[in-house]
Amino acid sequence: MEIVLAPDAMTACREAAARIADYMRGAPDPVLGLATGRTMEAVYRALVGMHRDGLSFARCRTFNLDEYYPIARDDPRSYHAYMHEQLFRHVDIVPGRTRLPDGAAPEPERECRAYEDAIRAAGGIGLQLLGIGLTGHIGFNEPPSDFATRTRLVELDEETRRQNAEMFDDRWQDVPRRALTMGVGTILDARRLLMVATGAAKARIVRDALEGPVTPMVSASALRQHPACTVILDSEAAGLLRLDR
Ligand code: F6R
Repeated sequence: MEIVLAPDAMTACREAAARIADYMRGAPDPVLGLATGRTMEAVYRALVGMHRDGLSFARCRTFNLDEYYPIARDDPRSYHAYMHEQLFRHVDIVPGRTRLPDGAAPEPERECRAYEDAIRAAGGIGLQLLGIGLTGHIGFNEPPSDFATRTRLVELDEETRRQNAEMFDDRWQDVPRRALTMGVGTILDARRLLMVATGAAKARIVRDALEGPVTPMVSASALRQHPACTVILDSEAAGLLRLDR
């Protein structure tokens, strides 16, 4: 695992965007795994800036990690809406080549199987972008999540619902109780992983994930089993690491 330390959150997010752009330029048929959340907003801002300077998304196909369930695509609090607002509407990505789990699917299990099939049909994910939740989740894989899990319907932890309350007028009880998420196994299948964590609130869980036991109780600890994983941290998120490896 490569750990990159950045002096501040902006530098960390710009570094992540630069690595995504490198992957996009180098791959003949780039398949990007995308994430949502507050951390990623600065990553997408940097990518949009790079697009204005010539970076094209036209050859890209994208798959997002997760979506609330149930939620309508056009609900402004959905991850569909987030992706449109933060990235898709600003770049030359081809409509129809972006996909998120459908939070309005009448049969979620069927949707999850179709999602896995679509990733496979695209040739697998080349680079998967990840954040980390306060529960240690990647995607919405709350503890405990077996490292072999695939895309599925999950229950969200109360801590995650509290973490995500901002979009729901700060009423955590209004954050959906469930979500569709790629599994830890789905994520580990990506050829490269790129995690970004910033801010002091993430320091404890970053330490647990990177230096604690590799355990289904901390989904992000699974990253240490991946052969090509980079973690980009600002100094606050890295604040509790021993970094003595
Ligand atoms: C979002 C996702 C989550 C977030 C994580 C961090 O698609 O899968 O794992 O990456 O909850 O969220 P922020 O950046 O809001 O702290």
